[in-house]
Amino acid sequence: MCGIVGYIGKIEAAPLLIEGLRRLEYRGYDSAGLTTIAADGSLHTRKRAGKLNALVESIDGNMPLGTVGIAHTRWATHGAPTTPNAHPHHDGRDEIAVVHNGIIENAGALRLKLRELGHVFRSETDTEVLAHLIDEMYADSLEQAVAAALAQVEGTYGIAVVSSRDPEKVVAARLGSPLLLGIGDDGQYFVASDAAAVVAYTRNVVYLDDGEVAVLTRDGYQTLDLKGQPLIKEVSEVSWDLDKIERGGHAHYMLKEIIEQPHSVEDTMRGRLLEEEGTARLGGLRNCLPPEEVDRFNHIIFTACGTSWHAALIGEYMLEEFVRIPVETEYASEFRYRNPVLDDRSLVIAISQSGETADTLAALREGKRHGARGVSIVNVVGSTIARESDCGVYLHAGPEIGVASTKAFTSQVVALALLGLYLGRGNMSVLQGREIVEALRKLPMQIKEIIDRSDEIRELAELYHEHPNFLYLGRGYNFPVALEGALKLKEISYIHAEGYPAAEMKHGPIALIDENMPVVVIAPRDSVYTKVLSNIEEVKARGGRVIAITTEGNGELSGLADHIIKVPRTREMLQPVLTVVPLQLLAYHIAVLRGCNVDQPRNLAKSVTVE
Ligand code: G6P
Repeated sequence: MCGIVGYIGKIEAAPLLIEGLRRLEYRGYDSAGLTTIAADGSLHTRKRAGKLNALVESIDGNMPLGTVGIAHTRWATHGAPTTPNAHPHHDGRDEIAVVHNGIIENAGALRLKLRELGHVFRSETDTEVLAHLIDEMYADSLEQAVAAALAQVEGTYGIAVVSSRDPEKVVAARLGSPLLLGIGDDGQYFVASDAAAVVAYTRNVVYLDDGEVAVLTRDGYQTLDLKGQPLIKEVSEVSWDLDKIERGGHAHYMLKEIIEQPHSVEDTMRGRLLEEEGTARLGGLRNCLPPEEVDRFNHIIFTACGTSWHAALIGEYMLEEFVRIPVETEYASEFRYRNPVLDDRSLVIAISQSGETADTLAALREGKRHGARGVSIVNVVGSTIARESDCGVYLHAGPEIGVASTKAFTSQVVALALLGLYLGRGNMSVLQGREIVEALRKLPMQIKEIIDRSDEIRELAELYHEHPNFLYLGRGYNFPVALEGALKLKEISYIHAEGYPAAEMKHGPIALIDENMPVVVIAPRDSVYTKVLSNIEEVKARGGRVIAITTEGNGELSGLADHIIKVPRTREMLQPVLTVVPLQLLAYHIAVLRGCNVDQPRNLAKSVTVE
């Protein structure tokens, strides 16, 4: 949420900063801006409301000069997405420029205090307050002023700051919002919210932790705590390439990521399936969660947000079935403010694509504070949730750029199945374990079969893209898929859609059903199929239009459902990996037909680092 990039080095900063922002635009796209420091030490700021292209057009070939700079792409929190509210923000003398991701909670009180000291504000943002506060605290160096200002701040921040008073420097700091340093060749240093912004220049990164400050100069970088004490930090290597974050000829990132799923799911399983033993190897869990010790936990809590929460619900069904320990799935935003009953016999599992979602991170911390074991299932390597958990499982799905999550979801479900095998193998026969391993192995091929039928789904989208409401129904393992299908549709097409447990329909949503209501029913031939069939009958009896997602070989629905999309059959626990794919494609095609911006839907951001 909000993307930051900063640079100091030997080449012109502005084009490099814009390229970095382009790779971070998924984090927010309400407005964008940058500041460079020219050779004479003066600050040059350009900013614009709207997408990054609006900024680029406004600069129109007249790039501000300088080899030091900071830039920002915004997801508005304080103040509407206007040009004055866009970052960078200056102090009153135009000598300090700040970009910020996060929320300064005491901005109101600080603003009042600064006004009394004569400061005049030009925006409604909390960030501008920080720029003025840094000015107020300036004594001898930029890092000293930043640290002194941050000591008065309540809230969260990832910031990058430059100043004409100390022009050979970029100062960065973090508390609660992700930030990393990129260590380039030849005296080039970067700061960014995400490695995507710097990977074109370097794969060597240093992840900042909360309460840390970094000072970048052309001669090197220094990491400090807020009291100015030097810290030694490890340099990590980013393992993926630039082509992983490029669109590669696809119309949208979302489509690219849907199509990638046979590979991303395969990558999640790579090296982890133990065919002979009928179980999974999860090296990251070996020390803190060995399967032979799982019985010491008396309950398991999954916590997550959005799509990851839907995957967690599927995980709940899997672990209860195979591990036989009570499992609850909690919205991270609710869990963190409850007074949950937890102790050292509790296992809290945080699921997150980005590994940076503020609520999920806070829920994990809350769990650990109560003595629970904190485990993570995360995609982004080195992210905060991954680092703060006691141990975890990486998805290895590769970078996900489209705001609507697709490949991360299928990889999460697969990782949860691996966790089920790993922890639950003690409760199942070797034969059962082997059957699950075999079913997992087949998934990539089966996903591909569905993707190959994308045109069929587009035809369906053509019939339904003008409908204002949709209902999605599913039961058992496919109830979370109904939720996920509805979420995908509303996120990118702005059509109102609700997901419901199929049987709950009669307790309310059935009142909505008439001939204008498309009802997507996920009805694979599984243990609850006949129940779902009755629910389809109930919809049809009221004139609803049924789009059924069922498994190959099921001829029973023709004559009942208006449209049938068939997916290959797999084990019941894994069926969501397949039933969700047509729903992703349906949402995608509908959004495209409605002319929506699929990769950057209005009001959303991919990485929600504010609560
Ligand atoms: C945002 C994204 C969703 C995502 C959710 C949780 O709302 O738009 O796609 O599911 O955050 O994100 P996480 O990175 O924790 O999985």
